[in-house]
Amino acid sequence: MSAPSESTSQLRPAHGGRLYQAARQYGIPQPAWTDLSTGVSPLGWPIPEIPGDIWQRLPEDDDGLVSAAQSYYGCSNLLPLAGSQQAIELLPRILPRGTVAIPDPGYQEHRYHWQQAGHQLHLYDSRTADPQLVDADYLLVINPNNPSGQAYSRDWLTGLLQKQQMRGGYLIIDEAFIDPTPEQSLCNLSNQPGLIILRSLGKFFGLAGIRVGFLIADDLIREHISRQISPWHISTPSRYIATLALQDTGWQQRAQQWQKAQSERLRSLLESHKLATRGTALFQSCYSPQAVQIHQQLARQAILTRLLDDHSALRFGLPANSHQLQQLADALEGLRL
Ligand SMILES: Cc1ncc(COP(=O)(O)O)c(C=O)c1O
Repeated sequence: MSAPSESTSQLRPAHGGRLYQAARQYGIPQPAWTDLSTGVSPLGWPIPEIPGDIWQRLPEDDDGLVSAAQSYYGCSNLLPLAGSQQAIELLPRILPRGTVAIPDPGYQEHRYHWQQAGHQLHLYDSRTADPQLVDADYLLVINPNNPSGQAYSRDWLTGLLQKQQMRGGYLIIDEAFIDPTPEQSLCNLSNQPGLIILRSLGKFFGLAGIRVGFLIADDLIREHISRQISPWHISTPSRYIATLALQDTGWQQRAQQWQKAQSERLRSLLESHKLATRGTALFQSCYSPQAVQIHQQLARQAILTRLLDDHSALRFGLPANSHQLQQLADALEGLRL
């Protein structure tokens, strides 16, 4: 196998949620940690007992997952994938090489895979509501953005879509964190040409481990992606759990309310410690010149946060309960900066 060329030798992006590593690094056993390092809801959809045959049977396309997703997302042109991550990896490979506008900061896997596939990247600042985007074949928007917390209006997005339709390009919206505010989603426009949407069961449903997400796109793109994946790319137990979670509208309403209220509690706690925040219902990000020190001091008290790669900010996921919120409050009280 040949060595990667310079243009493709970028390091793979790092991610939150690496509790084993933190346990080793700080010498604190893993169960003692409060993990706030991801945007995955700590109160995930409650998984029931899984019937024995679900473990035994091979995955089948017509098991009800697609129709449950069609009702939940309110659109029909979707393809289940092993997390929205699978779409992030495959889209840049199946789309013709071109120019792509990428949010910075933004979930790093996008940048990595567009670059690996040989597209020309233009970064734009994702911390403003109306960023200046270059004309590009592909415009990528993460709405709301992880980690900047910036949300984008439907008007701005539909304007971008019209622009892309005129030039025969694509608007790609990563809606991994949109579930608590579904009114912001563009899924109801998914039949429009030039629009591609990614959805995730990892964040709002707290089911990151089952690896289920969806690509919402036209027939041609779904067909191209389907050809790249295994017929059994999502396991039968994952499909079973995802189907039930997507159908559970009562839980979804309670989760939206709880996540919004908990995120608000987190925001006011951080702001009371002079940490200015930008956030979504699933996390709060604090830009601070002391992000590194805060990250390390909290970690010594077994609270894991996500330090952005450029060390400009810390991201806090939702504490699971009032005990964890109090632990964070006590740790913030003890900061020596
Ligand atoms: C913005 C964004 N999109 C997509 C993903 C991928 O999530 P998943 O593959 O679990 O759907 C992540 C994961 O952190 C993310 O932050």
